Amino acid sequence: MIEVHQITKNYQLGKAKFTALSDISLTIQPGEMVAIQGRSGAGKTTLFNILGCLDTMDSGTYRLDGQQVEKMKDAELAALRCKKIGFVLQEFALINQQSVLFNVMLPLFFDKMAYRTMKTRAMEALHKVGIANLARHKTNQLSGGQRQRVAIARALVNYPEIILADEPTGALDSKTAGQIMQLISELNQQGMTILLITHDDKMAAYCQRRIVIEDGKIIEDQLTQ
Ligand SMILES: Nc1ncnc2c1ncn2[C@@H]1O[C@H](COP(=O)(O)OP(=O)(O)OP(=O)(O)O)[C@@H](O)[C@H]1O
Ligand SMILES: [Mg+2]
Repeated sequence: MIEVHQITKNYQLGKAKFTALSDISLTIQPGEMVAIQGRSGAGKTTLFNILGCLDTMDSGTYRLDGQQVEKMKDAELAALRCKKIGFVLQEFALINQQSVLFNVMLPLFFDKMAYRTMKTRAMEALHKVGIANLARHKTNQLSGGQRQRVAIARALVNYPEIILADEPTGALDSKTAGQIMQLISELNQQGMTILLITHDDKMAAYCQRRIVIEDGKIIEDQLTQ
């Protein structure tokens, strides 16, 4: 369960202080699928980075499955992230010169795991997203939709409880985007918690709950289904 209480995040711009998030409180139960929406610059990615334990907050509290995140040191945060969270990013963040299989195995290199186990886990994730046949291809030989599937497989490889996705369909045509959302919905039906940042109402419609952020504040938080 994600529990954040009165989170604030400021950025220092020269001498001025810019408040990117203020007084953000929300609870996300295991198994929810939540859309986070709002205009460009509203603070979505800032919130994403904090929820993903990638960035720190200036004040407020964050409990992830009861663990107090704001008090953790970098190494503890990295371990928590590795154990609980899978990331799917807008620009895919794949290593182009490497194979699909290598890209999916990547998060496991940080665990002390036998190569064979890593490979089995990566192939399992590629099966889940329907592109096991592309394992030996280089990622720069793939289409946008296939690349996004690689990014999702990579997010799944460490068996996360939570998937954080920042505009996972932003670079895709609407048909491919629909297929990717279908895939993400299936992961949710299997019990994974999904947080999805999207500009697109059609993508948000796959989610059961919608949170809208404006100028760093939550202005709407409601169930849609
Ligand atoms: N490292 C930084 N230093 C200073 N200001 C920042 C930094 N990162 C973000 N900001 C500012 O904080 C605000 C929120 O940015 P954020 O990236 O969270 O927006 P967003 O909602 O994700 O927008 P988009 O939809 O364009 O991705 C913006 O005004 C941005 O300019
Ligand atoms: Mg953003």
